[in-house]
Amino acid sequence: MTKDMIVAGVMSGTSADGINVALVRIGGGQRKSGASSGRRGRVTRDHTSPGYPAFELLGHAEYSYPKKVRGAVLASMNASRANVADLARLNFLLGELYADAVRATQRRFRVKAQLVGCHGQTLYHQGEPQNFLGRKVAATWQTGEGAIIAGRVGVPVVSDFRPADLAAGGMGAPLVPFLDYMLFRDARLGRIVQNIGGIANLTAIPAGAAASDVIAFDTGPGNMVIDAVTEKLFGQPFDRGGRIAASGKVLHSAVEEILRDGFFRKHPPKTAGREEFGREFVREFLRRCGRCRKQDAVASATALTVRSIADSVRKYLPHKAGSARNNEFHELILSGGGAKNTTLVEMLRTELAPLGLRVRLSDEFGLPAAAKEAVAFAVMAHETWHRRPSNVPSATGARRAAVLGKISYP
Ligand SMILES: Nc1ncnc2c1ncn2[C@@H]1O[C@H](COP(=O)(O)OP(=O)(O)O)[C@@H](O)[C@H]1O
Ligand SMILES: [Mg+2]
Repeated sequence: MTKDMIVAGVMSGTSADGINVALVRIGGGQRKSGASSGRRGRVTRDHTSPGYPAFELLGHAEYSYPKKVRGAVLASMNASRANVADLARLNFLLGELYADAVRATQRRFRVKAQLVGCHGQTLYHQGEPQNFLGRKVAATWQTGEGAIIAGRVGVPVVSDFRPADLAAGGMGAPLVPFLDYMLFRDARLGRIVQNIGGIANLTAIPAGAAASDVIAFDTGPGNMVIDAVTEKLFGQPFDRGGRIAASGKVLHSAVEEILRDGFFRKHPPKTAGREEFGREFVREFLRRCGRCRKQDAVASATALTVRSIADSVRKYLPHKAGSARNNEFHELILSGGGAKNTTLVEMLRTELAPLGLRVRLSDEFGLPAAAKEAVAFAVMAHETWHRRPSNVPSATGARRAAVLGKISYP
């Protein structure tokens, strides 16, 4: 039986809004049944099935990137403008910021981590092999130097999780299904775990599923298009609470038209990023909105996220034979920053009710919506530290299980 370990998970997603840190106690030993919510927002999940460690969320904190850093990150994602010296410096600068974030969280919760799992900031992701200089390669790049984090925090750091899955023939994404399956699988209920970050992705876990039955893919934009439209038309980084969208009207025909092609028509497994839903997509989106009111464009961007999720459930998840309702699944559990957009959540409830799906927040399960992905990288780092694989091959398309990440020592 292995000993408990406190691990800090660090996540910064494609929204480039900042850094989420989760401090998690991960145990090798006890495995009780069921889940329980503890006092003061502390949460304990124990896992019934052997092979999964029990864990407890000790604290979670979010840190926005300084405005200039966010600008630099967004500019670096736009490859045509990137400069190699700045990219190298950004790698080390983000390492410093991640270390600061971990240390601040440790002070705040008076907990010291023994290991850090850091996803890093994705600058480029191309999950499928394409011709490059005469050879087919897939590529992914997460920046934020692990050696700097290890040096500053004083503990080993697991970073760069995705390349090992690419090496195993996978798309390197999505990786969070590992945690989703561990936490949300249920003997009787079919569940869809839906994260709405910059990109939206789902993990579908049929009732009583084995890990190999899990289906996971990106459904399309999450907040990325909403953020960009809100920034462009209202000069605000995001539509807080979904208030702007609530005051607008959805341009249904524009949304329908967009859903008819490109990424939305692709069969899963599929992944998306700024390459699909960045600047160019937003320009085209606004062109299709024509001369609508500004708030209508924000409402329509919100509806695009909602409709692409509902379409994914209808088109790409298994249905019970002969049933229009999607009876294989009963609940959709929301996480990510998009769960704070009330208008989006309400639209989603309305859209999914006819499919027999009840929308719940991951908070109801003791996992704050904003903390989930950071928790996932803590749990995966812990697996890597014990030399155990943590990709879900049915989700990434990998040929085999792979131990993910690289370890930097202090
Ligand atoms: N209070 C809020 N109201 C509406 N949207 C919010 C709120 N808080 C966060 N968001 C949205 O969530 C996004 C960040 O979500 P996050 O899960 O961190 O995504 P990522 O993993 O891509 O960084 C923000 O860019 C914003 O669009
Ligand atoms: Mg974020």
